[in-house]
Amino acid sequence: MAKTIQAIRGMNDCLPTETPVWQWVESKVRSTLASYGYSEIRMPIVENTPLFARAIGEVTDVVSKEMFTFNDRDNESLTLRPEGTAGCVRAGIEHGLLYNQEQRLWYMGPMFRYERPQKGRYRQFHQAGVEVFGIANAEIDAELIILTARLWKELGIEQHVTLQLNSIGSLEARANYRSALVEFLQQYVGLMNEEEKERLLKNPLRILDTKNEALQQALNNAPKLLDYLDDDSREHFARLCAILDNVGISYEINPKLVRGLDYYNKTVFEWVTTALGAQGTICGGGRYDGLVEQLGGHATCGVGFAMGLERLILLVQEVNKAIPLPQSAVDIYLIFAGENTASAAFRLAEKVRSELPHLRTMMHCSGGNFKKQFKRADKSGAKIALVIGESEVQNQQVVVKDLLGGAEQQTVALEAVIDHLKTSFKE
Ligand code: HAM
Repeated sequence: MAKTIQAIRGMNDCLPTETPVWQWVESKVRSTLASYGYSEIRMPIVENTPLFARAIGEVTDVVSKEMFTFNDRDNESLTLRPEGTAGCVRAGIEHGLLYNQEQRLWYMGPMFRYERPQKGRYRQFHQAGVEVFGIANAEIDAELIILTARLWKELGIEQHVTLQLNSIGSLEARANYRSALVEFLQQYVGLMNEEEKERLLKNPLRILDTKNEALQQALNNAPKLLDYLDDDSREHFARLCAILDNVGISYEINPKLVRGLDYYNKTVFEWVTTALGAQGTICGGGRYDGLVEQLGGHATCGVGFAMGLERLILLVQEVNKAIPLPQSAVDIYLIFAGENTASAAFRLAEKVRSELPHLRTMMHCSGGNFKKQFKRADKSGAKIALVIGESEVQNQQVVVKDLLGGAEQQTVALEAVIDHLKTSFKE
């Protein structure tokens, strides 16, 4: 036998046993976003590498270590998208969707990061993301958070997630804070590993979310970003907190929350859970008012978030045992045997699908006697078997057998079979 080829590490198949829960979660995401009036946008999975370097930032982990980058046949550097915001902004500028307009957009699809795979962290993963353009007020930041809170309720996970909130202010406020933080951290260089020392030089704010416990301890006395905020950011944050208080969404202000991507300003937030171990952030986002201009568009403010679908699904499976998933893929199994029965069977199957499109009809295609076919019908999980033999074709009839209820099989006239099925599937 030839040697088998395996999937790439960190890139998972989603098997037929798993797709129902994915479809259920995806449909909840779609319907929730639709109920807020958001529109779907679909971007390519591959973009020019400089888009991500410019948008996300050269010194971020995502750009410096985690991108799947390759040269195409024309020696252009291309990258599999590690996230959706950069591509969404690129598309918005390219198609004139942003200038002087308000847009509420969402997307769903695969993203790629070369990270060390573990539970909840993969090299191909899926995000559902939202990007809103052209609205500067804190009301829209609040809407995004309210929307996610509604989705958690829909998914039955609301008791298992908490909201962390921070404001990282304007670029200028952050630069002031950065100097103060670097000065403060000088005394703790001895506690730092090589990576943290490098961060101290290149991206010191990222030291705030270090996993190094001794350093975390020291950081409790570090200057707080919130104390360095510019007035505009401070007012924006106060307004957001007031709205969340009023609508009853609880949050924890986490002064160490800075996020791993460089484009943010003002609001940043994450929804986290303790139910999944180390990879507990199921959703993260914030405001990025400078990004559109930075990528060559007219200055347009933006705010958004993305959630990791794998993590959401792990959490749903962990805590919501009552997901209404279909138990089988089939409602009706159609079997036939004997001369000239195949064409009658095909006609009947198509008629059922046309007239009862909500029912799932599977036709037996692999031959064999009725006994073998009934075994397949039972295994399919279908409620009803329709049976066509030579005498049924001759008499324009169908045999209907209840596979689950154990009732006697009935012979029904062909023209009455649709009504018969309607009654069978009523309850
Ligand atoms: P992010 O925090 O990098 O933000 O990713 C958002 C979410 O994607 C994370 O909270 C996590 O649930 C999921 N995620 C990230 N990396 C992985 C991975 N390797 N495996 C599994 N899940 C993962 C962004 O991507 C921003 N574009 C969000 C945003 C949109 N901000 C504004 N607009």
